Amino acid sequence: MRSRDRSIISPVRQWYRRHGRSLPWRGESDPYRIILSEIMLQQTQVSRVLDIYPRFLRRFPSMRSLALARQREVVLAWRGMGYNNRAVRLHALASVLVERGMKIPSDAASLLELPGIGRYTAHAILSSVHGLPVPVVDVNIRRLLSRVLWRMSSTADMKSEAEIWRTAERILPRRGVYDWNQALMDIGATICTGRLPSCSRCPLGGICASREGMTQAARGTRKSEPGLHGVPNRIYRGRIVEALRRKKGGFRTEVLGREIRPEFSRHDVPWLESLLAGLERDGLVRVRRGRTLPGSRVVLA
Ligand code: ADE
Repeated sequence: MRSRDRSIISPVRQWYRRHGRSLPWRGESDPYRIILSEIMLQQTQVSRVLDIYPRFLRRFPSMRSLALARQREVVLAWRGMGYNNRAVRLHALASVLVERGMKIPSDAASLLELPGIGRYTAHAILSSVHGLPVPVVDVNIRRLLSRVLWRMSSTADMKSEAEIWRTAERILPRRGVYDWNQALMDIGATICTGRLPSCSRCPLGGICASREGMTQAARGTRKSEPGLHGVPNRIYRGRIVEALRRKKGGFRTEVLGREIRPEFSRHDVPWLESLLAGLERDGLVRVRRGRTLPGSRVVLA
């Protein structure tokens, strides 16, 4: 560890003690609850997960109850989260873990073989379920460490994931690694934000290599989520699954189009087709194709 690295640790720790977010999965000892939260947080903001996590746990209070459920019930409980394929993988993960007597691997290579677990989630599980001293790198931590340790004038200059993983390993403190990881996430998510970093509140403001460059120009542009007329596709995908839940026989596609979007017109057919192809790939819907798309019928898989 370099001396600059060492100077990061104590301000981050002190800040976390006073300002760390109190989130329901923090300090949780049930591995199921931890794994569920990390999978939910992979692609969804904390504020939305806070709404859905308790509802999901009421429906599926244990890994076993989840493993025994039907896939469509899991997808239904997942509504509002978006990226439904995560629900499908979580369901598969629950089945594997329950089959193995809930023995959760304590090495990254074995975790990575499980459904729905990538490097981030594997490391989050090692650090929070097993208390092992491993770093995690999500997009917030990547931005934070890039800015603090390198002089950056735009978020487009962020260091590569590989470089940030190496850096996160190098600066890892010897103790309290779980809190350390959570603290970096909180600073990245609430202070060192992409477009409007709040450097004056940042515990690392005094040593940050990029602070001076954080002018208007430094603020990257927001990547817009794919969607139609300002509504993200993930919302439409959720509506498709909801509509099909309500009507067992399914819908003809153009009727389904109007169910999810009252202004649906034939110009929207290619867009709907691409949403349906994605849902079909995820095993959530089946499209019984006619000769043309409007002649097809869509049902829940
Ligand atoms: N994003 C990913 N994992 C998280 C966690 N444990 N707390 C807050 N945000 C997160």
